[in-house]
Amino acid sequence: MNTYKLLTPGPLTTTNTVKEEMLFDHCTWDDDYKQITQHIRRALLDLAGADEKEYTVVLMQGSGTFGVETVLSSVVGDTDKLLIVANGAYGERMVEIAAHNRLNYVVYHEKYDRIPDAEKIEAMLREDPAITHVSMVHSETTSGILNDIESVAKVVKDNGRVFIVDAMSSFGGMDIPVQALGIDFIVSSANKCIQGVPGFSFIIARRSLVIASAGKARSLSLDLYDQWETMEKDGKWRFTSPTHVVLAFDQALEELKQEGGIAARSRRYNDNNHLLIQRMKGLGFETYIDEQYQGPIITTFYFPENADYTFEEIYAYIKARGYAIYPGKVTQAPTFRIGNIGEIYEEDIQKLCAIIEEFLEEKKNG
Ligand SMILES: Cc1ncc(COP(=O)(O)O)c(C=O)c1O
Repeated sequence: MNTYKLLTPGPLTTTNTVKEEMLFDHCTWDDDYKQITQHIRRALLDLAGADEKEYTVVLMQGSGTFGVETVLSSVVGDTDKLLIVANGAYGERMVEIAAHNRLNYVVYHEKYDRIPDAEKIEAMLREDPAITHVSMVHSETTSGILNDIESVAKVVKDNGRVFIVDAMSSFGGMDIPVQALGIDFIVSSANKCIQGVPGFSFIIARRSLVIASAGKARSLSLDLYDQWETMEKDGKWRFTSPTHVVLAFDQALEELKQEGGIAARSRRYNDNNHLLIQRMKGLGFETYIDEQYQGPIITTFYFPENADYTFEEIYAYIKARGYAIYPGKVTQAPTFRIGNIGEIYEEDIQKLCAIIEEFLEEKKNG
């Protein structure tokens, strides 16, 4: 098989043992299967540092966006108002979700290379008492910037509002003490830092707010309360569940534990990220995000001005040698991205940078 490793923000490179779990066709109403779902839900609570009395977990079929839309369209009621904080494509996607679902919302737009300012958010909350919910992205995968959810959580909680976080590309790869921060809803998906395969998203949520959302959902499939109510009874999914993905995810959770939990994984991702940036800078590539805001998940590099090659050319060269990188997503400048999450180690980063160096040499020598 002609394969390559993914240096992308997910789906990402998984272990063979995670993939092998998918060789079994599991029955969905079987007790063993329901127990696996319950085990996953408990494990996610542990990773979030959340107590079962206060918090609960809902697994939702579909990609990450389905999870974000489930929360926004189920918990922001007709008389509520949502403040969306956006400094990248995924913050903007929340705006699209809000518009499609005809929510009452306002947006705080920030530049893509800047982190949202907690003081500005606090001022907006003070000025507009009608705002009931605040939503934002943690790791903005568009650029790789890491938003300061701690400071924002504090102002949102001090002002008595509900806080919704899209931690799609960070949960499991960074420590996020959900309960201690007072986050009310946090969303991620199977194919990111837990290192499973794509097929469902998960929502870690304050139990009382899930219960309070009963009857508010604007969609049948993405009804947070109904999905939770069915799952809470005995681990049964409301509609057909992605059985193979669920088995793979359970194995991925086990492998996260074996690695040493979030602390160890986060260290590996950080080390990968620092090495990548250091080596790429040595090759003449500058980062789009300032060092102080750069997150450990994915890095945006400027595509060199006056380069005598295209992104497609360097992409194909790297792919033929075993790695896939990512195009840029910021609109302001020509860029490309390299992710360092998934089953990726120091040797992969070294190899990638050696391949890029070789490519640049070949170009120079014509
Ligand atoms: C921060 C963030 N939010 C939302 C999404 C959307 O997830 P999906 O493409 O799985 O729907 C992504 C995808 O990478 C993401 O990184």
